[in-house]
Amino acid sequence: MEVTRDTAWETLTRYTKSESLLRHALAVEASTRFYARKLGEDEELWGSVALLHDFDYEKHPTLDKHPQDGAPILREEGYPEVLIDAVLSHAEHLELPRDTPLKRTLFACDELSGFVHACGLVRPTGLDGLEPKSVKKKLKQPSFAAGVHRDEVYAGAELLGLELDEHIANVIAALQPIAGELGLRSAADAA
Ligand SMILES: [Fe+2]
Ligand SMILES: [Fe+2]
Repeated sequence: MEVTRDTAWETLTRYTKSESLLRHALAVEASTRFYARKLGEDEELWGSVALLHDFDYEKHPTLDKHPQDGAPILREEGYPEVLIDAVLSHAEHLELPRDTPLKRTLFACDELSGFVHACGLVRPTGLDGLEPKSVKKKLKQPSFAAGVHRDEVYAGAELLGLELDEHIANVIAALQPIAGELGLRSAADAA
């Protein structure tokens, strides 16, 4: 089968109904696509991997099942191994090698996209004017977006070979165009 955003979105929304999980998928997609564009890679494939990386989370909310039990479902749906392999690699507990730029990017975008999203949600202007340094400050407050694994955020930037500031700035830029879909306000709303 040909992997397109439409097929990935159709699969995702068949298994995932929660708004927050769909927003997470969209945020990781936007960040992963940003890097695909930057690196001249296959944006449609990378974006689809990102959309589907947690597709089975509602069905399999525990780590003894997610994402490993989602893989046979994706296989059944006809997705190629390159996509399934990348989806599986985002899970720390599976300890799979992140041996391609796609796998490294997915991992690096997963936690940070959620964190930047959370930063935008508590600001009256959303992501507008959000600076990497204030994101870094919030990373040091354990109570803020406590579910986000800080060590994975730092490891992700390192895996991409980027300074954390640059990676954060990229993710902010990637999420800005879909701020509305993510439920974020903008400077225009605050005015
Ligand atoms: Fe996951
Ligand atoms: Fe995720």
